[in-house]
Amino acid sequence: MSKHRVAIIGAGASGLTSIKQCLDDGFEPVCFEASGQTGGLWRYTEIDDKNHDPHSSIYKTVIINTSKEVMSFTDFPVPYEWPSYLHNKAVAMYFDMYMEKFNLLPHIRLNSPVQRISIRDNNKWNVKYLNENKEECDEIFDYVMVCTGHHRYPRLPKYEGMDTFPGKQMHSHFYRRASDFDNKRVVVVGCGNSGMDISVELSGIASQVYLCARRGTLPWILPRLVFGNTPIDHLQSRINLYLPLFMKNLIIKIITRISVGPHPKGFKPKSKPTEGHPTVKTEFLERVHTGTIICKPNIKELRQDNSIEFVDGSVLEDIDVIIYATGYNIKFEFLDKEIVNGGKEIGQQFEEEYRENLVWLYKYIFPPNVPNIAFIGLIQAIGALMPVSDIQAQYVTSCWKGLLPKIPSPVEMDADIRRNQREIRKHFYSSARHTIQADMYSYLDELTKEMGSLPSLARVLMTFGPSLWGHVLFGIPTPIHYRLFGRLSWKGASEAITKYNGGPNYKPAIVIFCVAFYISYLIIKRTI
Ligand SMILES: Cc1cc2nc3c(=O)[nH]c(=O)nc-3n(C[C@H](O)[C@H](O)[C@H](O)COP(=O)(O)OP(=O)(O)OC[C@H]3O[C@@H](n4cnc5c(N)ncnc54)[C@H](O)[C@@H]3O)c2cc1C
Ligand SMILES: NC(=O)c1ccc[n+]([C@@H]2O[C@H](COP(=O)([O-])OP(=O)(O)OC[C@H]3O[C@@H](n4cnc5c(N)ncnc54)[C@H](OP(=O)(O)O)[C@@H]3O)[C@@H](O)[C@H]2O)c1
Repeated sequence: MSKHRVAIIGAGASGLTSIKQCLDDGFEPVCFEASGQTGGLWRYTEIDDKNHDPHSSIYKTVIINTSKEVMSFTDFPVPYEWPSYLHNKAVAMYFDMYMEKFNLLPHIRLNSPVQRISIRDNNKWNVKYLNENKEECDEIFDYVMVCTGHHRYPRLPKYEGMDTFPGKQMHSHFYRRASDFDNKRVVVVGCGNSGMDISVELSGIASQVYLCARRGTLPWILPRLVFGNTPIDHLQSRINLYLPLFMKNLIIKIITRISVGPHPKGFKPKSKPTEGHPTVKTEFLERVHTGTIICKPNIKELRQDNSIEFVDGSVLEDIDVIIYATGYNIKFEFLDKEIVNGGKEIGQQFEEEYRENLVWLYKYIFPPNVPNIAFIGLIQAIGALMPVSDIQAQYVTSCWKGLLPKIPSPVEMDADIRRNQREIRKHFYSSARHTIQADMYSYLDELTKEMGSLPSLARVLMTFGPSLWGHVLFGIPTPIHYRLFGRLSWKGASEAITKYNGGPNYKPAIVIFCVAFYISYLIIKRTI
């Protein structure tokens, strides 16, 4: 019998792991990649005359915010000897190693942008694309996996005077290096990871950097490392899933206060740490305290004399550049919008900004009413995206092979999306960047439970003994845990988990952390 053909659109982290999963599960993947390279936004791309608006690319200095153990694909650990946090070149190199190990390149067609996909009467998909010679081609596939990322279309705010402001205005999408801003007076708008990162980077080279926070407050800012050398995401051990929310918030507040210092006066966060996507930038508050970054509230008006007025009435003169680090719009130009956002009627139930980025997909993967298409990586995980895409791809091929216990009807999917949206809106403050927000581990538990690969504690203890049980419950929360069991289990998983945790002797880190947090809490209670 001939294999089912799957069109995979995009060869970034999500596309690569989808190809691998299709191969593992006996599908025939064909991956279309618009650019001439793989790795997606982790492959640095220069902006020049030939390529003035690349799909998406990290800027020169980006270091990943998620530790190597947490960002690892589930059956291919980032080399043990590599540093905890990888520079973008190393991330791209890791993807190359993954591609080589599983021989993915023969399944990728580079320089082949997909222009349009449409479903046919027989539920197969027509994929219209340009081939390497820029000729229009059509091909029929049984399934489609959309892996094009969601950091492509800049979101811009609307301010009075934007059209006539004589200074330079740009989105962080087009930012590449600090040296372009030597001696400039720069206003960075937005305090997500791009805004924080760019303002810190510029603070050493621009004549003055201002960071504009539209809510008038800064987010909670986390350090990369705690206790000197522990990646902060290592504290997200499985045991955290059992902690009440107030404890998690307290722990984050204590860590923040000790590791990055107090927020500037008037800019203290109003929301709780778990109510927003985390911002990781150890040096940001330090730079604020040195005066090289000055925080401002939202902009009221941009003026023709290069000045900017803010909502508190203050005015900044002689601004050379405004960098809008204001996030991205979720858009797929080769696909009907309604497939992703559920249509106008659903959208009307949400306020405008949220609606613009609304995603109406079951488990962030399947549109309820359109068959044989899946979205991979269309999620903003608190954790790392690579393992999330990896497990989503496993879930999709399991579903298409009929191996999930139950595939819900469109009505049930719809109800589940609605429930999930209610949860998101209860848990996170309303913002365009929170429409696809999820906690990596709760989400992956949900998917792997259905696939039979959830590393339940009793099962780990009984199968692998107390040492590995300790690592899974209290140790580094590597997603390799999700390869211990099930039909897609990997025989190297237990060894990899043990190696990442520094050997087979489980140390009761949790006891040490609890005592440390409790003492810190007592100290801080007197000072905050
Ligand atoms: C500055 C920045 C820093 C980040 N840092 C982190 C981090 O620290 N940790 C983390 O987990 N995540 C981080 N992310 C999130 C990031 O999105 C993921 O890490 C991951 O790279 C997304 O992979 P992807 O394959 O889904 O999308 P992308 O990497 O965007 O890849 C999509 C691919 O699809 C291709 N494509 C697009 N349209 C078409 C088309 N029509 N036809 C064919 N091909 C097409 C593109 O050319 C591209 O190669 C960061 C994002 C940004 C913007
Ligand atoms: N590894 C790294 O070092 C690194 C570096 C950069 C980015 N990233 C990742 O890349 C992704 C994108 O990050 P991002 O920072 O570019 O975007 P983002 O997370 O969407 O943050 C956008 C910021 O802009 C603000 N904003 C949105 N609309 C605005 C408006 N109309 N006016 C004023 N402010 C507005 C948002 O405020 P509200 O909160 O009020 O909505 C938020 O502070 C994230 O996943 C991030 O983690 C990682």
